[in-house]
Amino acid sequence: MSDQNLIVRRKRALAPSYQLFYDEPVQLVRGEGVWVYDASGRRYLDCYNNVPSVGHAHPRVIAALAEQSGLINTHTRYLHSKVVELAERLGDMLPGDLGVCYFVCTGTEANDLAMQIARVVTGNHGAIVTERSYHGNSDLVGRLSTDTYPASERPDWLAVVEPPNVYRGPYTDAASYAREVSRGIDGLAERGHSPAAMLIDTSWDSNGVLVAPNGYVAQSAAIVRSAGGLVIADEVQAGYCRLGTHFWGHTRYELVPDVVTIGKPMGAGHPVAAVVTTPSIAAEFARHRNYFNTFGGNPVSAAVALAVLDVIDEEQLLENATSTGQLFGDRLGELANRHAVIGAVQGSGLFWGLDLVAGRDTKEPIAYADAKRLATSLRRRGILTGVTGRYTNVLKLRPPLVFQPEHLDVLIAELDDLLGNFELKGGDDNRALGAEW
Ligand SMILES: Cc1ncc(COP(=O)(O)O)c(C=O)c1O
Repeated sequence: MSDQNLIVRRKRALAPSYQLFYDEPVQLVRGEGVWVYDASGRRYLDCYNNVPSVGHAHPRVIAALAEQSGLINTHTRYLHSKVVELAERLGDMLPGDLGVCYFVCTGTEANDLAMQIARVVTGNHGAIVTERSYHGNSDLVGRLSTDTYPASERPDWLAVVEPPNVYRGPYTDAASYAREVSRGIDGLAERGHSPAAMLIDTSWDSNGVLVAPNGYVAQSAAIVRSAGGLVIADEVQAGYCRLGTHFWGHTRYELVPDVVTIGKPMGAGHPVAAVVTTPSIAAEFARHRNYFNTFGGNPVSAAVALAVLDVIDEEQLLENATSTGQLFGDRLGELANRHAVIGAVQGSGLFWGLDLVAGRDTKEPIAYADAKRLATSLRRRGILTGVTGRYTNVLKLRPPLVFQPEHLDVLIAELDDLLGNFELKGGDDNRALGAEW
């Protein structure tokens, strides 16, 4: 099927809200490890996709899926050892009392349930998120995703605070950013609300891939808790080794959250997600609400999720995210020394953002049109990347966890060559709502 033919049919048959990556969309038909192949057989280096966390089409994950599919697939109202094993394993991997699981299918569902839990348990209605946050797409979670709708439509129960962007400011220190959280809570009080929860994505992906100053996360959590709210660590992006050195983003920031939400990488392409909380919070929620999710926690999903954890252990993917991640940062730093368009190199592990600027003195973000053109040029060179950030000027690099130094060499060589010849042309669509996640 030709790409053009498929684009025409897709436009007719799929809702116009859907977007395609790149000015020249790519039709992927097969993947293996960090490589993906289009319909003509051309190979691309995947520097973008975190969902196939342990690599595309990992044989161990496929075998687990096939084996359990060939036995039975039911739901959590029947006994099954795999779903219990998965819950126990996740609990063992999380800090503090976190050890009671709910299974769902997407990150959105996880955050929706986490927010429902927070509201029921605290008796409060408010929520705190960062400017240009993304946490999912349901009616409730969509409101928590300030990246997706105009500011004028924000509900009065929502406090939106500055993300901890030490390059762009407005501050560089933890205490000033944490004071933003206090101010957000004061604003909620003026509108008659108290916080049920603050949602923290410790990769700050939609904000441009940020690294918070030391102490910011802990200080913010203390402020939220003293106002009666819970702290929800949204690990949909940051979890599963993504940031290197720690399996979870929140442990990297020495936070013990009240609720953890997990999604994308958990099933390496299979839709499985989870909410984990403490026994006391779960018991309080159960006093007020029943919960059932037909597909969440089915034995096939549980088998897949267990296989993903096995692969991460056996292939030492946390160690790889740490060591290849260190090299990644070093190599991007060298690129920044050669190309003034790179204003800042942000991130850690296997999640990096290049904040691209028209001038280093002004830090003026490059136009969205230029950022998209850059990603399309890389796609032409056989490298898949994306664009993110408050000003949609951040080139996002987030490969599967099996990314190795030799793959980094390929990416850096292409980026170096491209940036050496890249001309900024500007454009007036500087900020589209809802970039790419
Ligand atoms: C931080 C974060 N939370 C939640 C979600 C929602 O996950 P899903 O698309 O599986 O509903 C996303 C999706 O990109 C995300 O980036």
